[in-house]
Amino acid sequence: MSVDFGPAGALLGAGIIVTAIVIPLRVLKTNRYPSYSRLEYSLVETYSGEDFFDSSGYGNGTEATDGFTNYVTKEGAKWSNLTYATSNQAIIRVLPKDDTGTAGRPTVKILSRQRYTHGLFIFDIGHVPYGCGTWPAIWMSDTEPDIWSKHGEIDIIEAVNQGNKGAQFTLHTTDGCEMGVKRKQTGKALSNNCLNSTNYNMGCAVRGTPASYGEKLNGNKGGVYAVEWRTAGIRMWLFPRDQTPPNIELGKPEPSEWGTATADFPPRNVISIRTSRITG
Ligand SMILES: *[C@@H]1O[C@H](CO)[C@@H](O)[C@H](O)[C@H]1NC(C)=O
Ligand SMILES: *[C@@H]1O[C@H](CO)[C@@H](O)[C@H](O)[C@H]1NC(C)=O
Ligand SMILES: *[C@@H]1O[C@H](CO)[C@@H](O)[C@H](O)[C@H]1NC(C)=O
Repeated sequence: MSVDFGPAGALLGAGIIVTAIVIPLRVLKTNRYPSYSRLEYSLVETYSGEDFFDSSGYGNGTEATDGFTNYVTKEGAKWSNLTYATSNQAIIRVLPKDDTGTAGRPTVKILSRQRYTHGLFIFDIGHVPYGCGTWPAIWMSDTEPDIWSKHGEIDIIEAVNQGNKGAQFTLHTTDGCEMGVKRKQTGKALSNNCLNSTNYNMGCAVRGTPASYGEKLNGNKGGVYAVEWRTAGIRMWLFPRDQTPPNIELGKPEPSEWGTATADFPPRNVISIRTSRITG
């Protein structure tokens, strides 16, 4: 930190006093770290099996995701086999663009029925799309545009284009959400300011290793993404398939045994995130 002592002796004296007080406070603040103690979780909602697509809401039309997409309805998606589910797998596709080239590519935007304000969320992903022009994502946010920025957004899986740099884990918030604090994460912070109006709304993103997305992830039969959203903070993990914690496979997920998170968004800073629907 730098302190402007000013030109005059009197100011210099004042500057030294202020410095002596400010530095310890700053150090304390940035070293503060939440207690992510063990919590008890019980299952609230599952999306799986042949009715995977029956139990979720659908976006339709182009909608404001800034992608070149045309979201079709549940019925349209089933009819054109854009969505397809078996007992152990759900597949989402995208169709080629139409001959005019002006309409976005048909695909789906699927929304959870319930809204959440906290919880533990597990996503088992067998295969991810990557390559030029793709922008797949799973995120949590409120769907109404006027509420969106006030209630924030948690991006759980996101990658663009070649998808060879790793998955991005991001928060988008209103003011007062800076990540320049102590964090424990294996991912690399790309930006510390979560405020939606800075850095072209890139949010405070953390990137996992190249193995957390794309060809490498698929080569490992996919993986499991997890989000723990609680008063203490928000943490996200990506486990390549062969490193999935046994307690997840047993249906008793226990984050306190998972080790360092891929992305860690500590408290105080994440209070502006509120109710969210899961979207993908
Ligand atoms: C499309 O979405 C809007 C907004 O959620 C909804 O009012 C409308 O009924 C939907 N249309 C179809 C055909 O599902
Ligand atoms: C829909 O896609 C699934 C998965 O690729 C495939 O097995 C099935 O035959 C397709 N159904 C139709 C009607 O094309
Ligand atoms: C950011 O949020 C504010 C407050 O809700 C909103 O007015 C503004 O349009 C948002 N900016 C962007 C780039 O989304």
